[in-house]
Amino acid sequence: MLGKKIPFVTFRTRVRDDSIEGPNPFRWEDKTSDDYFSDKRVVLFSLPGAFTPTCSTFQLPNFEKLHGEFQAEGIDEIYCISVNDAFVMNAWAKAQGVENTKVIPDGSGEFTRKMGMLVAKDNLGFGMRSWRYGAVVDNCVVEQWFEEDGFSDNCNTDPYGVSSPQNILEQLRAAKIEAA
Ligand code: BEZ
Repeated sequence: MLGKKIPFVTFRTRVRDDSIEGPNPFRWEDKTSDDYFSDKRVVLFSLPGAFTPTCSTFQLPNFEKLHGEFQAEGIDEIYCISVNDAFVMNAWAKAQGVENTKVIPDGSGEFTRKMGMLVAKDNLGFGMRSWRYGAVVDNCVVEQWFEEDGFSDNCNTDPYGVSSPQNILEQLRAAKIEAA
C-alpha cells in the first residue's frame, strides 16, 4: 500500500443531533474518504472488532493516551476503523471514553476490502473483518504502512505489534530524524 491512494468510499456514520427529540437523538451522516483524509496527515489503524480484548485493552486506549505525542510528530487526526456498523463503533468509543481518537464505521467492509485487508474470521463467528494494520496517510496517500504478519483467513492467532501506537510513533520519530 505504500505510496498508494486510499480507496474512495462513503461511510454511513451516526452523529448526535440535539434538535431530534426523544431518547435517541442521532441521525445518519454520510462521510467520504475525502472528508476524513483530504488535506490532513493522519494515523489510521484497523482492527478485527470493536470491544475485542487486545483492541480495547491496548490498541485503542494507547492511541488515545499518546494523542499529544502523535500531534507533536505532525499528525492531525487518529482514526480507528473496523468492519463494524456505526452503532457498534459509537457504543465502543463511548464505553472507552475516547475523546481524541475518531472511530470510522466500515460496516459493509468496502473500505477494508478495497485496501486488500478483508479476511474471513468465521473461525470466531465474526464473518469478514479487517486484518490488523496501521498506516500514516498524508492527504489520502499512504506514507507509512504497518501490517501485522501472517495475513490470512481464519487465522488462529491475533498478531499485535507493528501496528501498536508505540511502534508507529517510534517509526514516525525515526523518519523525521532521517529526513532532517
Ligand atoms: C482481540 O483483540 O483480543 C481479539 C480480536 C479478534 C478476535 C478475538 C480477540
